[in-house]
Amino acid sequence: MTQRTLVLLKPDAVRRGLIGEIIGRVESKAGWTIRALELRHLDRPTLEQHYAEHQGRPFYEPLVEFMASGPSVALVVEGERVIEGMRALSGPTDPIAAAPGSIRGDFGTIVRENLIHASDSEESAERELKTFFPDFV
Ligand code: TYD
Ligand code: MG
Repeated sequence: MTQRTLVLLKPDAVRRGLIGEIIGRVESKAGWTIRALELRHLDRPTLEQHYAEHQGRPFYEPLVEFMASGPSVALVVEGERVIEGMRALSGPTDPIAAAPGSIRGDFGTIVRENLIHASDSEESAERELKTFFPDFV
């Protein structure tokens, strides 16, 4: 089942110089292809739409602020079961609970600054790809 998913390397990943390391892990998965890639400073309206499901939760405002604090890298990754696969490669939301070998497990400590976003379902992927790469999909 070939799928496409939206991946964001968050501002902490860019600031810490981890773009190459993380993209290397994505690229080395057999059969997965990067179809689009851009360094992009995300604006509030885009982030508010992206994180709409979390509006009203205590971490929402600091999350949006953090995500707007510097450039991210936005990618479209395509491949076999890539939606599930990118979530597995990323690890669980809380980096302390994430196993070594996952991106969050190897490089993260703070929940808010957990390095990477990857769409969590086919529905989310479709919606997020439309938001971030409207001309591409
Ligand atoms: P969520 O969609 O639950 O996690 P994921 O990115 O794994 O899909 O939350 C979105 C982001 O919000 C998460 O990556 C980091 C941040 N966040 C917090 O800062 N505190 C929290 O307690 C949670 C649940 C998330
Ligand atoms: Mg999520």
